[in-house]
Amino acid sequence: MKKLLAFIGILSCLTVIAQTARPTLAIIPEPVAITTGSGTFLLPSNVVVNAPMHTAMKEVIGILQQRLARSTGSHISLSNTAANPTIRLVLNNNADKQIGDEGYKLSVTTKDITIRANQPAGLYYGVQTLMQLFPKEVESTTLVSNMQWTAPVVEITDYPRFGWRGLMFDVSRHFFTKQQVKQYIDDMVRYKYNLLHLHLTDDEGWRLEIKGLPRLTEVGAWNVKKVGYFGTFTPPTPDEPKDFGGFYTHDDIRELVQYAKERFVNILPEIDVPGHSLAAVVSYPELSCTPGADQYRVRSGEEIMDWSHGAPPIALVDNTLCPANEKVYDFLDKVMTQVAELFPFEYIHVGGDECPKNYWEKSDAIKALMQKEGLKSMEEVQSYFEKRLEKIVESKGKKFLGWDEILEGGLAPSAAVMSWRGVKGGIEAAKMKHEVVMSPTTYAYIDYMQADPIIEPRIYSSLRLNKSYEFEPVPDGVDPKYIKGGQANLWTEQVYNMRHAEYMTWPRGLAIAESVWSPKAKKNWDHFFGKVESHFGRLDMAEIKYARAVYDPIFTATKTADGQLQITLDKEVNGLDLYYSFDNSFPDNYYPKYTGPLVPPKDAVMLKVISYKGKQPVGRMIAMPIAELKTRAAKK
Ligand code: ACM
Repeated sequence: MKKLLAFIGILSCLTVIAQTARPTLAIIPEPVAITTGSGTFLLPSNVVVNAPMHTAMKEVIGILQQRLARSTGSHISLSNTAANPTIRLVLNNNADKQIGDEGYKLSVTTKDITIRANQPAGLYYGVQTLMQLFPKEVESTTLVSNMQWTAPVVEITDYPRFGWRGLMFDVSRHFFTKQQVKQYIDDMVRYKYNLLHLHLTDDEGWRLEIKGLPRLTEVGAWNVKKVGYFGTFTPPTPDEPKDFGGFYTHDDIRELVQYAKERFVNILPEIDVPGHSLAAVVSYPELSCTPGADQYRVRSGEEIMDWSHGAPPIALVDNTLCPANEKVYDFLDKVMTQVAELFPFEYIHVGGDECPKNYWEKSDAIKALMQKEGLKSMEEVQSYFEKRLEKIVESKGKKFLGWDEILEGGLAPSAAVMSWRGVKGGIEAAKMKHEVVMSPTTYAYIDYMQADPIIEPRIYSSLRLNKSYEFEPVPDGVDPKYIKGGQANLWTEQVYNMRHAEYMTWPRGLAIAESVWSPKAKKNWDHFFGKVESHFGRLDMAEIKYARAVYDPIFTATKTADGQLQITLDKEVNGLDLYYSFDNSFPDNYYPKYTGPLVPPKDAVMLKVISYKGKQPVGRMIAMPIAELKTRAAKK
């Protein structure tokens, strides 16, 4: 027995040694300040939590009781009297000016854990960080036995750089259920996002019940299910059932708003007008300037815009609300009244993007409006519409926010701008002393492909993780006080299900989280990517899907001086080896390793490539047709 005890003693020493040798902390987003100590805290099987009993603490304690207990099996009890609690959550009542409303100070000693914050939100973020200090298995959705649940001794001071840390979820192009939206919220709060922008209306579906306007959800919320390449689908035929879609009732929204609030998330509703409004027009054709709108159908992914001339697009069907029609403003008043009642957040997003003008140009009503109001261009017509809408939104006690197109033709006096076509619109608006949220396509469009189109579901453009990580919400020369923060946008034309929504969001959502939370000076790609790899393990444990596209090679096809195809393979991250074949078989680490540009053998039809880290395959097997590379080289 003594020998056994001695052996166990040696084993636990080894465990301590192993634990202290653990890699550096992998907290995403990177905290403001970390001081590491020596030794580790070991989670006991009975965890006593001392916390303020406050309704806003429900989810703070909930994470400990659910996420921590589920995987570790520890029994978590609450006590305000225990002399030596295991975890102490302390509210400072705004005594600590350094950390603000969302910051926290986390202290892990060998004996216990203390998190201090001014507000429950700070404690919530402190607990999220604490979870990232335990081994990745803490994220398991089932009990994990035989683990040492240790956390390193550390002192962390942390608070966000921006108050607006958002993700936009397009629930219009593809509908996502209330339960799926909750899941998206659960995923985002792990990384300290505090704003969910719901894109509730578009050509493909109106997703919000509006009392007194029943057709919006009886008709406007439904289209024909199609899969393939969105934008190229065949138009629905009369016999195809329009039974794909859905909407949120007022009770659903109240439930979602409450769910989000408990997790310190605000929901920003977007009603996208006057463009992107086909679902509303089909429901109420009298809102259109165009005769024959009563023959339109809610879009099922068929082509409705011609983008070949650039922006604004030429509409093939008129998907706009008519700025010259008083019924439109009555309609918007009804809608905004209910949106304002349902969503407590201070802003309403009114869209304003990509509004085609070609049908307005043909409309007598628009011509009459221009004459009456002295409007000189179609941009001024849209600006007239936005200014009237701004008054409606403000009459409901809300602030008016739109995509950067609302700058064209003159910005409404108190409008806030969400800059998406790069940062230019945001800079312009900030210089005019308007509030700005940055969400530029260049860094923050997480609907874009993460790797080569040969393997990713096709969409307009590409955005790799390392580029997302370069997102800087405050451009040079702009007064930071006008930049409220930033967000990543997940449009869902090509996102047909929840697992794919997660795949598109992570890991780029990790990069954006760090850009909107962490001090600029603390950002470092190599350090970040090391953490991302460790979070891949956490996301696996949490059963959240993510993309491993960062390991995929970057293909460049050129022609040599004598006209032969030459293929260059680049890597997004260091430390990878690429193995390839031209003989159609599946390369592994016994195949040729890529060392420099390749000229394919004469009759080869396929280049297959896979990336390894040491002896481990980490990337996907990519099959790249030589014909595709030849086409790309010819375009250069
Ligand atoms: C947008 O991406 N059309 C705002």
